[in-house]
Amino acid sequence: MNAVINKIDVLLGLQWGDEGKGKIVDYLTPGYRLVARFQGGPNAGHTLEFEGKKYVLHTIPSGIFHKDSVNVIGNGVVLDPCIFHKEIISTHIPLEIISKRLLISRKAHLILPSHKLLDAALEQSRGSAKIGSTLKGIGPAYTEKIARTGLRIGNIEQSDFEQRYQQLKNNHIRLAAAHGLDINDFKPDGLDFDAYEQKWFEGIGVIRSMSLVDSEVLVNSELRKGVSILAEGAQGSLLDIDFGSYPFVTSSNTVAAGACTGLGIAPSAIGEVFGIFKAYCTRVGSGPFPTELFDADGDAMRNEGNEFGSTTGRPRRCGWLDLPALKYAVMLNGVTKLIMTKADVLSIFENIKVCTAYRYNNTQIDYLPFDFDEGRLEPVYQSFPGWKKDLRLCDHESNLPEELKTFTRFVEEYVNVPVSIISTGPDRAHTIAR
Ligand code: GDP
Ligand code: IMO
Ligand code: MG
Repeated sequence: MNAVINKIDVLLGLQWGDEGKGKIVDYLTPGYRLVARFQGGPNAGHTLEFEGKKYVLHTIPSGIFHKDSVNVIGNGVVLDPCIFHKEIISTHIPLEIISKRLLISRKAHLILPSHKLLDAALEQSRGSAKIGSTLKGIGPAYTEKIARTGLRIGNIEQSDFEQRYQQLKNNHIRLAAAHGLDINDFKPDGLDFDAYEQKWFEGIGVIRSMSLVDSEVLVNSELRKGVSILAEGAQGSLLDIDFGSYPFVTSSNTVAAGACTGLGIAPSAIGEVFGIFKAYCTRVGSGPFPTELFDADGDAMRNEGNEFGSTTGRPRRCGWLDLPALKYAVMLNGVTKLIMTKADVLSIFENIKVCTAYRYNNTQIDYLPFDFDEGRLEPVYQSFPGWKKDLRLCDHESNLPEELKTFTRFVEEYVNVPVSIISTGPDRAHTIAR
């Protein structure tokens, strides 16, 4: 019998990323044995706070701080060995312990230093149409994967690895030059290319010492044994390569279907889909954002919510919650449970707005049209009285202010999915299960 006897739960972002995935995965991890990343790479920045300390993870799954968890970097991920090595050090967990808690798919693709060079060259050549990429080499690494020329983690165990690396690097250098960027003018992490490359190979050495696995076989066999698994998404549904605001998207499928291809599991193996959203919206980089605020309210949200990128430090664009966009993301992912974060940030406002529809071409619509580029949609807002209360003083659903309960009910009814967790602050402890 080969039947799946357990399901894999998926947690993913429903907006433009940074919804608080890292915090919530860390909170949920005690309920799971295995936590697995299925797409994206070091463009992600997942923040965890507990016991007065703060950590930002980029490639390592957010279950890593729990001693009984096993964490898997799935085949759908793209991995930069240099960033990965630094990230291991930043956890302050000794390498021997990390090696026991972390498994890496042989089929995950490598981000080469020259992919970063290409990312910079392509972004530079886009001029004012730039995507606002994190410049971590994500687009070029996934391009290489789809072009069937990529190097995978498993290749580092083979004798022709360095030769294949050199060939790709030479191609990338030529291509970058054709886009106007010379390798000598490229300073990744402020270093010369050769110095960065040396650190990259040190990272390869660390990976060689770790457990490389056929993660699709492992995940399926654990599922058959009844082991509980949580798949951790990166980015958000509105950055999905197919369904996001193309071309202002990332280069992977961030939606629930990405967990199937990024871990090698069947659609029938998916259990709960936890969709996480902020009680407002943020976006880093370029692209349409219908409810974006350009006024003092937007600045207040950014300051109160500390909305600066976890990976790049860039200020995040801020705006009110966009319900038509949220409903679209819920549909794409088959979300079964919602998780709302950062409602505490809205405590500064007398009145809180949510977008319930858009005015578009002289009509009112409640969905995202194909051409929702900058300025084409005018949000229609509904106002709610603010809660004006420090939510961190609430330790139970029953203590939450009535105004917040009304707001939450409105969202639940609009998208027709219950909110199962309300996060009231960045710390693991600031979490209310309903
Ligand atoms: P991720 O990429 O989805 O993991 O999110 P990020 O870590 O990039 O950004 C979320 C930010 O909000 C981080 O700084 C978190 O520490 C913080 N955060 C998460 N949940 C909450 C919350 O409920 N309230 C507040 N104030 N901050 C939160
Ligand atoms: P987490 O997992 C927010 C955005 C970039 C840019 C676009 C493409 O922390 O939520 P890329 O580097 O993929 O070429 O950038 O996507 N972006 C993110 N925004 N959170 C992220 O990840 C993001 N990863 C990429 O800002 O607009
Ligand atoms: Mg983030």
